[in-house]
Amino acid sequence: MKDLASHAATPRFLICRPQHFAVTYSINPWMDPNAWAGNGEVLHARAMRQWDGLRRTLRASGGVIETVEPRPGLPDLVFTANAAVVLDRKAVLARFLHPERQREQPVFAASFRALQARGLVDDVVEMPNGVTLEGAGDCLWDRSRALFWIGSGFRSDAAAQHVIEREFGVPCLPLALADPHFYHLDTAFCALPSGDVLYYPAAFTAAALEIIHAHVAPAHRIALGRADAVRFAANAVSVGLTIIMSSCSDALRRALAERGYAVAKTPLQAFLRSGGSACCLTLRLDHVSAATASATVSPKASSTTAA
Ligand code: ARG
Repeated sequence: MKDLASHAATPRFLICRPQHFAVTYSINPWMDPNAWAGNGEVLHARAMRQWDGLRRTLRASGGVIETVEPRPGLPDLVFTANAAVVLDRKAVLARFLHPERQREQPVFAASFRALQARGLVDDVVEMPNGVTLEGAGDCLWDRSRALFWIGSGFRSDAAAQHVIEREFGVPCLPLALADPHFYHLDTAFCALPSGDVLYYPAAFTAAALEIIHAHVAPAHRIALGRADAVRFAANAVSVGLTIIMSSCSDALRRALAERGYAVAKTPLQAFLRSGGSACCLTLRLDHVSAATASATVSPKASSTTAA
């Protein structure tokens, strides 16, 4: 665990200020535009405060922040996890299912071109026509296993797996989702850098659970109960040994503490009204695959061998 903390590169997060965040349409069971409209100003102010709290927590854990410029009329642009899948300085831009969110695609594309111009990513590519993949919301990097877990069933196509395997040259494990409340993989699944996996079993099909159980040893499984699942405790951001989330039960906090993790709670209930929380509001830009990681940490070792 010490190695994990000391070898970690500076985490870099893409986020978007919730200036224009609101619930104005409904594309998942959490979104109720009427309930939002009834108290819109108060809820918007709360979202702004809660997002500032998340940004502070990310910075306090050692994260560096990059931002997407907010746009009127794009209330879900705050969920930058959905912008792209990023690994080894390459970004595969999202292709959204719903027209409401397809309008975000050119904004995220321009943001990634700007990151490329600044030298923060090397390649920016698009998903093929007709294949939907809602970015890291449905495609989670598992550092300890050096693979992507990829979700499908509500938003992203199962065929996206082959695109991701081809683009990044790493394996993908497909997980079909079963409960519309957990419509993106990151709402019910979180792979921690130590190999532990937080997941809500009822969100998955029987076939998906078999895949999880085949790849995650029992000692590494942290199964959430419904109470933690519905507050999106699995929608967490891990930075070294800190796990940032909106809230969780004492039992979950203890289970994580036993494994050496500290939970940093930062309330994000305003975003749960849109079906999102900590992980959805962030996108890691600095993940590297095992091959690239060992090439970067041991350049001397490899040149010695070559000499
Ligand atoms: N309202 C947004 C949607 O339904 C929430 C997206 C949450 N993002 C995530 N990565 N789970 O698309």
